[in-house]
Amino acid sequence: MATTSAPARPARSGFLLDLYRSALGKKYLMAVSGIVGLGYVFAHMLGNLKLYQSAEDFNAYAAFLRRLLYPILPESGTLNLLRLVLIAALVVHVVSAYQLTVMNRRARPERYKGPRDYVVADFAARTMRWTGVIVLLFIGYHLADLTLGWVNPAPSGSTPYEKVIASFSSLPIAAFYLVANTALGLHLYHGVWSLFQSMGWNNRRFNHLRRSFATGFTLVVVGGNLSFPIAVQLGIIS
Ligand code: HEM
Repeated sequence: MATTSAPARPARSGFLLDLYRSALGKKYLMAVSGIVGLGYVFAHMLGNLKLYQSAEDFNAYAAFLRRLLYPILPESGTLNLLRLVLIAALVVHVVSAYQLTVMNRRARPERYKGPRDYVVADFAARTMRWTGVIVLLFIGYHLADLTLGWVNPAPSGSTPYEKVIASFSSLPIAAFYLVANTALGLHLYHGVWSLFQSMGWNNRRFNHLRRSFATGFTLVVVGGNLSFPIAVQLGIIS
């Protein structure tokens, strides 16, 4: 009697791996890493409001961040852990964005030619990649400026407050911060709006709330951020 062997089954990868490889999985990753970024920019803006209190308060706040959970963890230990989470979120966000772009191009190699798709997507949505690149370049400059002090005009050994004032007293640097934070605003606005979609938290009845939340969040974070270089340029803080 002839023996028939069962047809070979295609190798099954795990559910999580399949999800990771899918566009949906990448959108989840973008949304979750985006939420980490949103939490950071909100908390960072709130902390920076101490600039309006006094130099001592602002510097004390910077020192407080280094002593979070001290002595359970060594000095700067918690801050370094938070930095790792932020870096991981940034890498996941940028890599997923790149992979999604490649997947979209493969699925639709011919670009739309007519102006019609421009009507559908608003300005913030259409410029996500560009505003993302500007924010990325800004973060690089910002770290070299205020964290590492490499490009900061203040003498070495200056306090965080002195570094901020030295940077924003320069008109070109202040202007760069204004442009970068406006790009951040466009990115945040569309990002907040679309993360609800990616996470499946969308419902026609609540869409107007989504829009209001995206607008409110963006105005608070970016309004605060724009106010700092403007306040230094106008001599309100010095
Ligand atoms: C005009 C608005 C801003 C001001 C005044 C400001 C101020 C500062 C200061 C003073 C530091 C150094 C803190 C320290 O070393 O003690 C810092 C670090 C940092 N800022 Fe900003 N920042 C602003 C906007 C932003 C934005 C929009 C982002 C992100 C998109 C951002 C991301 C960071 C990051 C990642 C660090 C490094 C944190 C660390 O590792 O300690 N900042 N910022």
